[in-house]
Amino acid sequence: MSDFVAERAGEVVGWIQVTVHEELDEIGEQGAWIQSLAVLPHLRGQGIGGKLVERAQAQAIQAGDRVIACQPLDQDSAAFFRGQGFADNTMQEHEPFWSKRMT
Ligand SMILES: CC(C)(COP(=O)(O)OP(=O)(O)OC[C@H]1O[C@@H](n2cnc3c(N)ncnc32)[C@H](O)[C@@H]1OP(=O)(O)O)[C@@H](O)C(=O)NCCC(=O)NCCS
Repeated sequence: MSDFVAERAGEVVGWIQVTVHEELDEIGEQGAWIQSLAVLPHLRGQGIGGKLVERAQAQAIQAGDRVIACQPLDQDSAAFFRGQGFADNTMQEHEPFWSKRMT
């Protein structure tokens, strides 16, 4: 499990938690899974979330993962992940599953 935080003036304002080398059943491949991602509400829309995802991707690539995946919480977070290059691969009657091939 890897955690990265974003700080402003010494305060934590955002974080991402990623597991690397997880077997992703949905695509039958090993990959990184975004367990959680959040930015403080009043600081959203300033690029913090995007930078956290980039940081997590860099780490996952270094660890040998080629795919990164997540489970968007709602339509807003799905729109965010689409902007980060993720696509919806949810299988019928399954939990949301969005992924992105990094390499
Ligand atoms: C999702 C979340 C982490 C995004 O963080 P953020 O710091 O606001 O995101 P950014 O500012 O880096 O946005 C990056 C891009 O996504 C877009 N984006 C962000 N939120 C969006 C939304 N709700 N709808 C559409 N686009 C959105 C931004 O416009 C930006 O696009 P640009 O690069 O073209 O300007 C934040 O909204 C959040 O904490 N949400 C609640 C928790 C959550 O949903 N977590 C994800 C599921 S685990």
